[in-house]
Amino acid sequence: MDVFSRDFEFFAHPTSKGLSAQDIVQHAASIEAMITKHSVGLDDNDEIPTTDRCSSRNPRPANETVLLTGSTGNLGCYILASLLSRDNVQRVYAFNRRSTNRDIMERHRTQFEEKELDMALLSSPKLVLLEGDIKLSSLGLSKKMFIKLQQELTTIIHNAWFSNFSLPLSSTYDDHIQGTRTLIDLARSSERRNEIRFLFTSSITMAQNWDESQGPYPETLVTDAATAAGSGYGESKYVAERLLARSGLEVISLRIGQICGGEPNGAWKPMEWFPLCVKACWYLGAIFVPTLNSNWTTMDTTSDIILDIVFHKDSLPFAANIVHPRPVASEFILYAVRDALIQELGHGLSSDDSLRQVSVQEWINLLEQSATRHRSEPRNITIIFRLPPFVTLDISNTMKLSEKMNALEPIDAGLVSKQV
Ligand SMILES: NC(=O)c1ccc[n+]([C@@H]2O[C@H](COP(=O)([O-])OP(=O)(O)OC[C@H]3O[C@@H](n4cnc5c(N)ncnc54)[C@H](OP(=O)(O)O)[C@@H]3O)[C@@H](O)[C@H]2O)c1
Repeated sequence: MDVFSRDFEFFAHPTSKGLSAQDIVQHAASIEAMITKHSVGLDDNDEIPTTDRCSSRNPRPANETVLLTGSTGNLGCYILASLLSRDNVQRVYAFNRRSTNRDIMERHRTQFEEKELDMALLSSPKLVLLEGDIKLSSLGLSKKMFIKLQQELTTIIHNAWFSNFSLPLSSTYDDHIQGTRTLIDLARSSERRNEIRFLFTSSITMAQNWDESQGPYPETLVTDAATAAGSGYGESKYVAERLLARSGLEVISLRIGQICGGEPNGAWKPMEWFPLCVKACWYLGAIFVPTLNSNWTTMDTTSDIILDIVFHKDSLPFAANIVHPRPVASEFILYAVRDALIQELGHGLSSDDSLRQVSVQEWINLLEQSATRHRSEPRNITIIFRLPPFVTLDISNTMKLSEKMNALEPIDAGLVSKQV
């Protein structure tokens, strides 16, 4: 059984490159329809994309009370660990969906263990673990707890999202949009409404159909829904952003690029394409020169950048884009992966000859032949290479707001080898 090709199917997805002009019009119409559906009761004045919309906000409170969603996830657990370590944070409500078979603390322990984060943080008196249903107006919490949130919250970090590139907007992401609206309503009904900051972890996938002749993707609201046409995932992030823009709250949407494994141990999300690719290189005995973006940021640095921004003393712009400001050449990643595979995995890889360097096309052919032999399709990897390259992003806002981002060193070979 070819274990890899079974995994690869997970990532199969259409791309905006495959969309005709008519498709793009239809996608844009569905996006607008979903915005309309979920904006009832929000400001009709709409969407103020300027950077100074929040200039009259109050100064940040000395003690922050944060609601974080999706803390059982990969980035979420890093954000949680960072929040719990901060002196200016007095309480973190970590809100997650219920699991039928796993205790909520256990789910956090597993993530912290896997990432080698400080387990002691999970015993912090600052931490309150909540389980509920984000779609429900009360978040599925007791009335008492919901009122407590309305009284105490100063910051919301909305990070929970389902990342699947192959599923359509309306059938997959309606619940996520509804959940975002629930959080907007919570913030709007809160006693500290004027103090609340709402940070949304968006994705550069929402810029998948951006016309680069207009320059880099800006750090403002882009009101043309066609720019987001493509995968339902990117479209859903765009819809959420448009709702946030109508919320009247101090919001910031972070369009984040590829997040890779971070310190201390380099762990990636297990089902991400990169670990699967590395596994496949080992399996096929062949490695390719990637045509990949290498402006990845690690989980830990992304989390630090998020915290720099959300607690920034100045008022926030509507959007900030996050990709590594000092990218490395893709060959660099290739050679670091090759060396790490040869040195650390072994399994017969005793010399360069046993891990041939081939072109991307040749590598895909090898993968497809292997899959055919095992009667399965290596769709996700192939699709990764069919993706349009990610657009260039303006990162000026993030550079202004985050010391961490400013000081980021290029990813080094040591970290790549940990990721392998
Ligand atoms: N990883 C990247 O390269 C990347 C790049 C750009 C943006 N982002 C964004 O960053 C955020 C975190 O990403 P990640 O890589 O850490 O994702 P992840 O590891 O898959 O974690 C996702 C989190 O969202 C929760 N979640 C998923 N579907 C949900 C649903 N239907 N209802 C409620 N909660 C749900 C998960 O809960 P369970 O534990 O219950 O599954 C988990 O806590 C996401 O918003 C993602 O779009 C990630």
